[in-house]
Amino acid sequence: MKRMTIAVIVLLLIAGGWWLFRAETRQPVSPSASKVDGATLKDPALIAKGHYLAIVGDCASCHTAQGGERYAGGRVLPTPFGSIPSPNITPDHGTGLGEWSFEDFWQALHSGKGRHGEFLYPVFSYTSFTKVTREDALAIFAYLQSLAPVRAPAQAPELEFPYSVRTSLKAWRALYFREGEFQRDASKSDAWNRGAYLVQGLGHCNECHAARDSLGGQQGSASLAGGQIPAQNWYAPDLSMQANGGLAGWSEQDIVDLLKTGQSTRGTAFGPMAEVVAESTQHMHEDDLRAIATYLQSLPPRPAAVVATSELDTRAILAQGAKVYAQRCADCHGKDGNGVAGIYPPLNGNSSVNEPTGINATRVVVLGGFAPVTEGNPRPYSMPPFAQQLSDADVAAVVSYIRRSWSNKASIVMERDVVKYRHTPID
Ligand code: HEC
Ligand code: HEC
Ligand code: HEC
Repeated sequence: MKRMTIAVIVLLLIAGGWWLFRAETRQPVSPSASKVDGATLKDPALIAKGHYLAIVGDCASCHTAQGGERYAGGRVLPTPFGSIPSPNITPDHGTGLGEWSFEDFWQALHSGKGRHGEFLYPVFSYTSFTKVTREDALAIFAYLQSLAPVRAPAQAPELEFPYSVRTSLKAWRALYFREGEFQRDASKSDAWNRGAYLVQGLGHCNECHAARDSLGGQQGSASLAGGQIPAQNWYAPDLSMQANGGLAGWSEQDIVDLLKTGQSTRGTAFGPMAEVVAESTQHMHEDDLRAIATYLQSLPPRPAAVVATSELDTRAILAQGAKVYAQRCADCHGKDGNGVAGIYPPLNGNSSVNEPTGINATRVVVLGGFAPVTEGNPRPYSMPPFAQQLSDADVAAVVSYIRRSWSNKASIVMERDVVKYRHTPID
C-alpha cells in the first residue's frame, strides 16, 4: 500500500516535474581547467593528487565488485527502489570511460548526468560530489584515465516502475538536488573550510549520516543529523556534538583516531563505517583528518530527543538486561560500561549505543562486531556474536539495559525489533 502511494506520488511529480525542473540553476563554468588536453592528463603530479582524492571519495568501494578488478564496476548497490550496479570507470573504450572527455566527467560528478545527458541515480553520491572543485575533479579524472583499462560491460539496474525510467529523476532532482560548488566561509579558519569541504563534498559523509524521506531524498536541515541507511539496517549517528547519540565528549584526537585506525577511546567503527575507514579515511593525510575533526567539532549540538518511557513498563526488562549484561558482557565492557582503553570500546556515552533506533547495538550483539583492519590497528579485537546464546527477549533486554544505564538515556528496544534485525545479513 505504502509502495503504491509512493508510486502515485512519483508519477504526479513526473507530471509536474517539467516546470519544477526549470528551477534548476545552471552554474557558470569556472575558467580554470576549462581547456584540458591530453598532456595535462598525463601530468604525474596531477595523477598522484587524483589518486589521493579518489581514495578520499571512496570511489573504489562502490566501483569494484567483490573479487573484481578495481574500478571496473559491477558492485550491486541496494536501494529501497531496487538494485543499481555500479559502472566501469576504468578507461576502457566501449565499456568504461575511454571515450569520455573531462567535460563529460565533470557533468557526471557535478550535475549527476551521464555522457549522453541522461540522469544518473543518486545512489552515486553526486548530491555531495557536486561540491567538489573543478581542479579536484580534473585530478580524479586524470588518475582514472591513467589506470589500466578493464573490459567490463555495464549491467542493467533492476528497478521497479516508475524508478526504472531515468526521466523520473527529473522531479526528484528538482526536489532534492542543488548543483553548486563548495562555498568557503571567510570568517572560519582554513582547517575548518578544508574539513567542511571534505565532509560535505568528496567524503560524502551525508550520504549515510543524514535522514532520508520515503523518496530517498535529504532535507537541508538533516545535514549530518544522523539517519538510518536506506535498504541497510544500520544507523549512522548524528555527527554534531550532541549528547546521547552524537559526538559529545569526543576530542579532536578521538575523531582522528577513529578515522585513522577504526578505534578510539569513545567507540569503534563497525558495519558500513568499518569499510569507510578501511578503504578511505585510514589513508587520509593527518592534516585532512584534523580538518574534518575541526569541522565536526564546530557543529552545534542539536537538542537531544526526549525519550518517554514509563518506569513501570521498563523495570522488568531492565532487571533481566542487567542479569544478562553481568553474565555475558561485563567481562569485556566493564561493570561501569567504560570498556578497556585500546581493547574493548566503552558502551557508556557511545553514540552507536545511544542512536535513536537501537539497530546498531542490536545487530552487533546478534551478529558480532568487526572493527576494520587498519595500518594503525592491524589486529583489532572483535565482538563475539550472541545469536546462538541469547533469545530475542534476552537481546532486547540487554540492549535496552546498555541504552539506559550509566549516562545513557536512549529508548528501550522491543523483542519484535530484535526479530526484525536478527535476519538481515551483515553488509
Ligand atoms: C555509494 C556508491 C558510489 C560512490 C561512493 C561512487 N560512485 Fe560512481 N556511481 C555509482 C553508481 C551506482 C553509478 C551508476 C548510476 C546510474 O546508473 O545512474 C555511478 C556512476 C558513476 C559515473 C557515471 C558513469 C557512466 O557510465 O555513466 C561516474 C563517472 C562515476 N560514478 C564516478 C565516480 C567517482 C569519480 C567517484 C569517487 C569520487 C564515485 N563515482 C563514487 C556509485 C558510486
Ligand atoms: C556508507 C555509510 C557511511 C559513510 C559514507 C560514512 N559513515 Fe560514519 N558511520 C556509519 C555508520 C553506520 C556508523 C555507526 C557504526 C559505528 O559506530 O561505527 C558510523 C559512525 C561514525 C562515527 C562514530 C563512531 C562511533 O563509534 O560512534 C563517526 C565519527 C563517523 N561515522 C564519521 C564519518 C565521517 C567523518 C564520514 C565522512 C568522511 C563518514 N562517517 C562517512 C556510516 C557511514
Ligand atoms: C570478548 C569480549 C566481548 C564480549 C564478551 C562482549 N563484547 Fe561487545 N565488543 C567487543 C569488542 C572488541 C567490540 C568492538 C568490535 C567492533 O568494533 O566491531 C565490541 C563492540 C560492542 C558494541 C558496539 C560499540 C562500538 O563502538 O563498537 C556494542 C553495542 C557491544 N559490543 C555490546 C555488547 C554486549 C551487550 C555484550 C553482551 C551481550 C557484549 N558486547 C559482549 C568485545 C566484547
